[in-house]
Amino acid sequence: MAYRVLVTGGAGFIGSHTVDALIQKGNQVRILDNFSKRVHPHGRPGYLNAKAELMVGDVREKGVWEEALKGIDVVYHFAAYQDYLPDFSTFFHVNAVSTALLYEVLVEKRMTEKIRKIIVAASQAVMGEGCHRCPTCHPEGGHFIYPSIRLESQLSKGKWDHQCSVCNTVLQWVPSDESVVHPCNQYALSKYSQEQIALNLSKRYGIPSVVLRYSIVQGERQSFYNAYSGAMRIFALCLLFDSSPVIFEDGYQVRDFVNIKDVVDANLLVLENDAANGRVFNVGGGIPWTILDFYRSMQQTLKKDIEPQIPGRYRFGDTRHIVSDITRLKTLGWSPRRTVKDSISAFWSYIIGQKTQRGVLEFAQQQMKKLQVIREVQH
Ligand SMILES: NC(=O)c1ccc[n+]([C@@H]2O[C@H](COP(=O)([O-])OP(=O)(O)OC[C@H]3O[C@@H](n4cnc5c(N)ncnc54)[C@H](O)[C@@H]3O)[C@@H](O)[C@H]2O)c1
Repeated sequence: MAYRVLVTGGAGFIGSHTVDALIQKGNQVRILDNFSKRVHPHGRPGYLNAKAELMVGDVREKGVWEEALKGIDVVYHFAAYQDYLPDFSTFFHVNAVSTALLYEVLVEKRMTEKIRKIIVAASQAVMGEGCHRCPTCHPEGGHFIYPSIRLESQLSKGKWDHQCSVCNTVLQWVPSDESVVHPCNQYALSKYSQEQIALNLSKRYGIPSVVLRYSIVQGERQSFYNAYSGAMRIFALCLLFDSSPVIFEDGYQVRDFVNIKDVVDANLLVLENDAANGRVFNVGGGIPWTILDFYRSMQQTLKKDIEPQIPGRYRFGDTRHIVSDITRLKTLGWSPRRTVKDSISAFWSYIIGQKTQRGVLEFAQQQMKKLQVIREVQH
């Protein structure tokens, strides 16, 4: 069935790929985006789908929502503030208040029965440091621990792992399912607020809504200018200029990475599947990677023989290990089909096609140093 779809943040990474897929399936799409300077320092990106209607506006403004929602059946809400800057209130204005405004306008304009579905982009960050277990205190398993953020006093000594508060054994991570909620920074808190606003108002007003908690998404069109950029962007930019990338901590921190095409498949699946309504789903890669192994895979795929540096630097506020349990979304028939190598190759082709890369890496690192996000072990 064809819908009239509003995609906020439709000029961004996940949004633009979703727009392309929706248009390809015959839907009419309206993009609402403010071309945020931090994501698009050169303005409107060249990849925007010409068949989409474009509305330039800010999701923090109620009047913008009133205009953007006219004639719409489906909303994907991707617009977000996802940096690492200490302007804490911006996270809540862009991520949480915008979501409340969306439902507020739907209720005020009596559109609640007309809306077919709202899909809200959440984040794995909501689960914070995730789920762990102590192999000494509970060797049989079944007893879970949800550690808090690691303190500066621990990190500055180069002690990276979470330890059991009873016996000091290094905790083992286990995949985190959707029941895990432990937001540890303002971005995560704002994304959790966004989830709760969507779930609460959708239930109260009968507006079918779905929350998708993405893991680290990879593929072409990721902005180079995000100061808190993901491992692939940093490593690829270093390899492009034949410089040795810095791997933070000891390189054994664990993550899961999901390809943008798998994310788009998930986004489209929950639109059509009513069993998804009113629920939260993890959208992850299903395979745990240490950052070091991920770098090795990039080296291999790109045939670059450059050894990384591991000088004991760390980013204050980083999660030690987090891996999403994707069982719930698999029960709806989705599973990740692309590999990390697919993501690396796609991103590499994208990056070498750009004219603006030089200076980007320096920009990202300068920003993080300025903010004292990158720190070093005190010997
Ligand atoms: N990329 C990931 O790995 C990842 C992981 C977890 C969750 N997410 C979530 O997925 C969503 C999309 O992420 P992305 O990676 O595509 O981000 P992105 O930065 O590439 O795109 C976000 C888009 O939103 C627009 N935008 C920002 N503030 C706006 C505002 N106030 N009004 C209107 N438009 C605004 C930006 O201009 C940009 O085009 C976000 O909600 C993000 O929190 C992303």
